[in-house]
Amino acid sequence: MSQEFTSHVINSFGPKATPKARRLLSSLIQHIHDFTRENYITTDEWMMAVEFINSIGQISNEKRNEGILVSDVLGLEALVDSQTHSLDESNHTSSAILGPFYRENSPIYANGESIIKKDVGGTKCFLYGVVTDTDNKPLEGAKVEIWHCAPNGLYEQQDPDQPEYNLRGTFFADSTGYFSAKCLKPTSYPIPYDGPAGQLLQWMDRHPNRPSHIHWRVSKPEFHSLVTQIYDSECPYTKDDSVFAVKDDIIVTFKPIDEVDESSAKKCGTTIKQLKEDGVQVFLEYNIKLIKESELQAGRAKIYKKQAMLDKNLSSSEEDEEIPEVNETKVHTEHIETITSKNLSAV
Ligand SMILES: [Fe+2]
Repeated sequence: MSQEFTSHVINSFGPKATPKARRLLSSLIQHIHDFTRENYITTDEWMMAVEFINSIGQISNEKRNEGILVSDVLGLEALVDSQTHSLDESNHTSSAILGPFYRENSPIYANGESIIKKDVGGTKCFLYGVVTDTDNKPLEGAKVEIWHCAPNGLYEQQDPDQPEYNLRGTFFADSTGYFSAKCLKPTSYPIPYDGPAGQLLQWMDRHPNRPSHIHWRVSKPEFHSLVTQIYDSECPYTKDDSVFAVKDDIIVTFKPIDEVDESSAKKCGTTIKQLKEDGVQVFLEYNIKLIKESELQAGRAKIYKKQAMLDKNLSSSEEDEEIPEVNETKVHTEHIETITSKNLSAV
């Protein structure tokens, strides 16, 4: 069938379709129809695709989010992350993908405490830093959530041998913005590849490995919640990530404890001797800069304006109206809250 058929489908929308629904679904239909024509898709292939999409839902549960995994191996989450932040000011910490293993309500620890609830081996790390705004003003009370996998490559929710919430914790910055935690030097791991995401990797003849990394979510009211990861410069997969999430400015190097000077330990209210007695083998300083939500949204106004223009062009009922003033801060903030409280808590 020709473009005439595709236009007929797109033009079938009723008057109550919102401008955004009209724009996004029209574009989706156009791309899917073009893809179908370009590749001479047959009924059998279409049914295979339907069953593949169904299988993404069927294997997902409260501990596994295959939709994110499939997005990730296709580079979609990395593309969305990059595009979302493409117009942001560059003087704050870079974001990275959330990944499928975030859990809300991880245990709250005092600064300096360990997120290791059970000895699972690995290299013990002392991690510290300060959370500031983009003018280097300390952000007291900033919530710092970190999580990483065990040396066997599994997150606690994947591994019956790990206690609940092992290797994940929540810390709060003090009046100087300082936070610190004991954790493990992270390990590379394969993403789960026994389901649809693994099938995709097989079809593409690709490995499933992610570079060693620690996940972060750092938040404070009125500031944009930062979701990011830091990557170990010494891991070979940092240059060959199965989900394409690595950015240069979030690659770090863990320092062996024997190379750390006493003054650095003192800054953290401890000593090298004490750290060694606690089994710490590597040290990492990583500082976080958050940007105000209002500043970030102002930077994204160009994206919102382009979307508004597209909406207007596709909206037959608003032909003579002005392009609406673009201020999606409230909408965006509510959207983020929806994501965090709904989608993220499900993984
Ligand atoms: Fe991860």
